[in-house]
Amino acid sequence: MSRGLFIVLEGIDGSGLSTQAHSLHRTLARQGQPSVLTKEPTTGPVGKLLRRALGDQLSVSEETMGLLFAADRREHVRQTILPQLLEGIHVICDRYYLSSLAYQSRTVSEDWLWHINSFALIPDVTIFINLPVQEAMKRIDSRGLEREVYEEASILNAIRNVFCRLLHEKAERAGKRIMVVDGRPGIRDVAACITKGVLPLTDQQRSPLTTLGGDVIG
Ligand code: TYD
Repeated sequence: MSRGLFIVLEGIDGSGLSTQAHSLHRTLARQGQPSVLTKEPTTGPVGKLLRRALGDQLSVSEETMGLLFAADRREHVRQTILPQLLEGIHVICDRYYLSSLAYQSRTVSEDWLWHINSFALIPDVTIFINLPVQEAMKRIDSRGLEREVYEEASILNAIRNVFCRLLHEKAERAGKRIMVVDGRPGIRDVAACITKGVLPLTDQQRSPLTTLGGDVIG
């Protein structure tokens, strides 16, 4: 039995990550391909703390945010991602370490962020949903919910720039395979584009799971 495929979705707030993650989950199920849908921050104890910080109910430094996201991810990899992959189940993960790099490196050292995430398994494919900030802000405001701490145009602009730079410069660390998908068309068109990129990968032979720190797992 081959291990599952590790698929990550990334993008700025409002780019439709959760919608597309759900859609891919349904598509894989229709193809008879078992998958789990998971998300960071998680619903675990550290994830709950992060939710409070994102809602501005808890004031911590960006450095501490970076550590908390890494701690949440550590549990996520150990408890969910790795066991499911080893069971042959595909894992669809809504945000992962590139979010830490893009969101926290505005004020925190990028090298340090890579370092504290060195335990993290490198995804087989990272799908970046690319959406202009103006469009993302429109979508965020149309939800009618309180904005979270990063949901400001100037902040999202800086974050989007880091994402774009990382996807070009650091492709080998960002993930083995990067797909940039235009997030502007309708939900179905974006989903079709993601499906077209991901489905062929499910049949391909998997390479060994490695961590950012270079360890080979399993
Ligand atoms: P998001 O994924 O948009 O979830 P929801 O739609 O349920 O609010 O929210 C998570 C926020 O956390 C988002 O602003 C990105 C941020 N984030 C980081 O800053 N660093 C990280 O490592 C991760 C995973 C997320």
